[in-house]
Amino acid sequence: MTKKTKLTLEGTTIDLPIIVGSEEEKAIDIGSLRKETGHITLDPSYANTGSCKSDITFIDGEKGILRYRGYPIEELAKKARFSEIAYLLINGELPNNNELADFSNQLTYHSLIHEDMKKFFDSYPMNAHPMGVLASTVAALSTFYPDVQQEPSNLNIIRILAKVKTLAAFSYKKSIGQPLIYPMNDLSYEDNFIRMMFAVPAEEFTVNPVVSDAIRLLLILHADHEQNCSTSTVRMVGSSNANLYISIAAGIGALWGSLHGGANQRVIEMLGMIHKSDNDYKKYIEKAKSKTSKFRLMGFGHRVYKNFDPRAKVLKESAAKLLDKLGIDDPLLDIARNLEEVALNDEFFIERNLYPNVDFYSGIMYRAIGIPTNMFTVMFALGRLPGWIAHWNEMKSDSKTRIYRPRQVYTGHTKRSFVPMDKRS
Ligand code: ACO
Repeated sequence: MTKKTKLTLEGTTIDLPIIVGSEEEKAIDIGSLRKETGHITLDPSYANTGSCKSDITFIDGEKGILRYRGYPIEELAKKARFSEIAYLLINGELPNNNELADFSNQLTYHSLIHEDMKKFFDSYPMNAHPMGVLASTVAALSTFYPDVQQEPSNLNIIRILAKVKTLAAFSYKKSIGQPLIYPMNDLSYEDNFIRMMFAVPAEEFTVNPVVSDAIRLLLILHADHEQNCSTSTVRMVGSSNANLYISIAAGIGALWGSLHGGANQRVIEMLGMIHKSDNDYKKYIEKAKSKTSKFRLMGFGHRVYKNFDPRAKVLKESAAKLLDKLGIDDPLLDIARNLEEVALNDEFFIERNLYPNVDFYSGIMYRAIGIPTNMFTVMFALGRLPGWIAHWNEMKSDSKTRIYRPRQVYTGHTKRSFVPMDKRS
């Protein structure tokens, strides 16, 4: 039996169903509110609004819990491969040996992009931001594979998963003026990407397993995060019956913003700035607290986590290990640790529950691997791709989905008459 709550508004009492999720999350279903009372709810930036039911990812922001399809992120970070996680998110269950082998083979086999698409890379300016290149080339995939316009097939899903890493690596090679490196069929998803990024023609190249493992970890930690800004964008665009590829291109646009995935680039820029100013990190803490300054401590705070972001915990430890294994001494890691320590003991940050988020330590790892700063958010997009696909599919397969269309409370002029130009003062 569905529990209900009563709401009395201007003398009318209505029953509203209470929806309880599998982890006891509770929501009031206000679907009948406007029809029965004439009211809507107002929730700017959707901080209290559940836009859907979802089986994919569970977050408990107060306890710092993140699970994909029930599996804790800490376990997946240690043991899983990225292709397994992509399969899990999209299909709902972990693959068996045969399923994984088949899925991985397909991801390799479909890595090449249409030769005509390569011409795009000649047309972007040299210093084009790779997120702009990624968003536009992913949008263009829907022109090369118009069958995605119908219900996308498994092949459409494999194609985008396989090709985005090639598009990302090509955009980097182009930006540094090096020849493009084609994918190789005997390499894993991670290793293929690393090779396309860093190999140079006519030179031997072997993938360093330490780098490969770091990429694996980073991709897994970014693979899904329920109804975040970019995923909600993907769902919203898809709800109008727009195709999967163009919906994901829109999600890439949303991810680019500095309050979302773009924060990872901004964190390293901030740490670099602190380094240049004689490591005076305390000055930046004060700046972040100041009501007159627009400066924020990038990589800190989260709409949902009011406790440690579990991904940041994993990354802090992994960043130190990676630098150690690669024999790199990065002063930015020390600055990050100092900032974290000061912030976690400062009343301003404590009161507002501001903890490091996933972007705080990821950049230190990307830097150590040799990924350039303006590619950091592209790395986030690569990881998030399976999550976007899983959410797009879930939204489409829910028979209750209608076009996403929020309402508003209008606060503009009431009715007035048009004044012709010659009568206007
Ligand atoms: N530095 C300083 N103060 C902060 C920070 C920060 N990083 N984040 C939040 N605050 C303060 C705000 O000024 C506000 O203070 P006030 O109550 O005195 O006005 C309070 O904390 C609440 O902040 P909101 O902006 O209302 O929180 P919201 O949930 O809307 O925003 C966000 C969350 C965007 C992540 C915010 O914390 C932020 O801008 N962080 C820096 C950017 C960042 O790291 N983004 C990546 C997020 S994770 C991801 O998308 C992958």
